[in-house]
Amino acid sequence: MNPILQTASKAGYAVGAFNPVDFASMKAIVRAAEEEDAPVIVQLSAKTVRYYGHENLAGWMRDLAENSPVPVVLHLDHGKEIEMIRRCIETGWTSVMIDASHLPFEENLKVSRQVLEMATAAGVGVEAELGEIVGVEEEIVVEEEDAHLADPDKAEIFCRELDLGVFAPAIGTAHGFYKGTPKVAFDLIDEIYRRTGTPLALHGGTGLSDEIIQRCIKLGCAKVNISTNLKHVFIDGFADYHRASPDDYEPLRVLEAQFAGIKRLVSEKIRQFGGSGTGRALASAM
Ligand code: 13P
Repeated sequence: MNPILQTASKAGYAVGAFNPVDFASMKAIVRAAEEEDAPVIVQLSAKTVRYYGHENLAGWMRDLAENSPVPVVLHLDHGKEIEMIRRCIETGWTSVMIDASHLPFEENLKVSRQVLEMATAAGVGVEAELGEIVGVEEEIVVEEEDAHLADPDKAEIFCRELDLGVFAPAIGTAHGFYKGTPKVAFDLIDEIYRRTGTPLALHGGTGLSDEIIQRCIKLGCAKVNISTNLKHVFIDGFADYHRASPDDYEPLRVLEAQFAGIKRLVSEKIRQFGGSGTGRALASAM
């Protein structure tokens, strides 16, 4: 994760981080990145890790990524349990997120430091969060009135104390589709990036306009997370196929339709984030 995002930051593009829910969606993400010749982050939610188990997921990813000509990161999204994170590090994840953002600042720092030490010893990158992002994540609902943006003074201390691969400050974006116009705090992104120099993660990428995304990338966001969009394409891919061909009960054709939909979406996003054409060169430089 770390060298990939450092390179993206310097070159002014962002790496897409996509949440698959099964092997086919994982494969669609990696194949889209290969076609676009771009680095990619495959990130799994804690509930997906619980559903399939660490070994299965790591095995699938190894199968897809090991012989890939582009850099593929296997990342844990919003890890909250130290034990789950430890097992990710042991079974082959190349990056983990510790989300202790619900804790008071000092405790968040302490838990994030513990994860950073454990991950660094294994050569694994770390993302940590400050402030609380609106929306649903891991069945935890953060209502708009409870969410708070990251404090730039605290962000500076946090990133000075922790050598993070990527930092996730709450900057006004939300998980899930936006109900109204997203209230992105561009000045805050700018200030935090200038004061920390750490590549930033843009959570809540679904539903942000191209203009907002471009502005965020220019201001220092080097990782853009897309999950809800993928879930919709996954389920619509199934439903649309069945509506169009109600008598076709060949499951592999349905899977193929879902696969094609996800690959199309991921390719579009990679192009939008500006990373196309950089993957093979980056892989050979690593
Ligand atoms: P969306 O579900 O809004 O795309 O957000 C994804 C995300 O930030 C995952 O951590």
